[in-house]
Amino acid sequence: MSHENGERAKFSGYIGFVLAAAASAVGLGNLWRFPYLASHYGGGIFVIIYILVAVTFGFSLMIAEIAIGRKTGKSCLHAFGELARKYRWLGVICALVPIFVVSYYFVIGGWVAKWFAETALGHLSDMSGYAGNYWWDYVTGGIAGLGDPAIWFFVFAGLCFVCVLLGVDKGIEKVSRVLMPALLVMIIGISAYNLIALDGIWDGVRFYLSPDIGELTGGTFLGAISQVFYSMSLAMGIMITYGSYMRKDTSIEKSVRNISLIDTVVAILAGLMIVPPAYIFGMGDEKGMGLMFEAMPDVFSSMPGGEFIAPVFYLLVLFAALTSAVSLLEAVVSVFSDATNGRRNRAIVLSLIVLIPLGILAVLGFGPLMTDLGPFDQGAGILGIFDTLTNSIMMPIAAILTCVFIAVVIKTRAITDEVEAEGQQFRSKELFEVMIKFVCPILLSFMLVLGLADMFGVFSIYRGDSQHLLWMEALSR
Ligand code: PFF
Repeated sequence: MSHENGERAKFSGYIGFVLAAAASAVGLGNLWRFPYLASHYGGGIFVIIYILVAVTFGFSLMIAEIAIGRKTGKSCLHAFGELARKYRWLGVICALVPIFVVSYYFVIGGWVAKWFAETALGHLSDMSGYAGNYWWDYVTGGIAGLGDPAIWFFVFAGLCFVCVLLGVDKGIEKVSRVLMPALLVMIIGISAYNLIALDGIWDGVRFYLSPDIGELTGGTFLGAISQVFYSMSLAMGIMITYGSYMRKDTSIEKSVRNISLIDTVVAILAGLMIVPPAYIFGMGDEKGMGLMFEAMPDVFSSMPGGEFIAPVFYLLVLFAALTSAVSLLEAVVSVFSDATNGRRNRAIVLSLIVLIPLGILAVLGFGPLMTDLGPFDQGAGILGIFDTLTNSIMMPIAAILTCVFIAVVIKTRAITDEVEAEGQQFRSKELFEVMIKFVCPILLSFMLVLGLADMFGVFSIYRGDSQHLLWMEALSR
């Protein structure tokens, strides 16, 4: 995909579109966020609910966003206004989300880069042999001070900005065609190693894959919904932009089916690689956000040749994070560029000015700014707040508004006609209509209200304490 100059550039076709969208979708959401949420929300039951939400909500919303993009040929900031002038503000809401997401994505990307550097320098045993929680002590400044996570944040953010400055999307796309399958093979290989070599691993696999209905709470749904948005890059205007670059003769439905399939399979395999060993190492849900960074060094250090495999693994994760972060940053830049009448360089500088302080806030939010952060607190500082604010509040709101906009203002017909353009099939049309008109907006509104009520301590949708207390307790264990 290239940038807008005059005639909008298009993806070469079906395969190009699916691979580019999948490279954006597959990232830290699959590798870092899905496993720790699955661990936290009861294992198998979370996995089932996640799949259900992905194939219904996720699938329908992705179709809607790509169709809006293709129909209007515009990025999210202008697409809604193009369809109905009065609703231009909806685009602004969608455009705001990636600003928060990418700023803290840079921080996590920085952790991955740090883990790569440490393992490449042969320090794996320092991490796995550490007496406490290495990740937690690192992010809170207890190991190398907060300057170190800040440096790695700049390294990762810098890499992303350089990619966007050089406009190397094409190059990234080419490399990712080799590296993404390599990552997948590696995830499968490590999972197979775990299953063969780790004592008691099947208890962990049972926890991860067999649903225990007793673990089902409102939180499981809320977590799964937030994860579908995050992982499938929805409710952030991204898929609208991708759709605007799609050719009319490429099937939207078939593309979405494959993008969501790839995204979900990678998440489930990443969970299989991380959750069972974390379970038997006694990490369970305790580590929250640090699960991947704590469990994997232990796995590698138990592995023959693990010290060589670890840096390769982190390098591949780094690349997956980079492709996603670049597409997120590209979205922010294109919003600023739309807002400043197409001056790309000015838009890049503006993105720097906005994103870097937000990211630094997320880094410092584990240190001096780590106080009780009120209702949104996940026990993970300001980064946790950004995460909750975007995935559990802003994205559901953006998705609800998008559904209502389609159902009431432009009517689902506008979307289904676009999906069926040039005689394309839309086999799940009925499912799509029911989802967009009824299930998504009603259920999302319901979950949003419940989630907010829980956050503000009105009542708990979990067993026992509210989310806030649950996370705090989990982290202090
Ligand atoms: N879906 C990505 C992930 O799972 O890591 C995150 C993301 C990337 C969201 C790019 C949005 C986006 F535009």
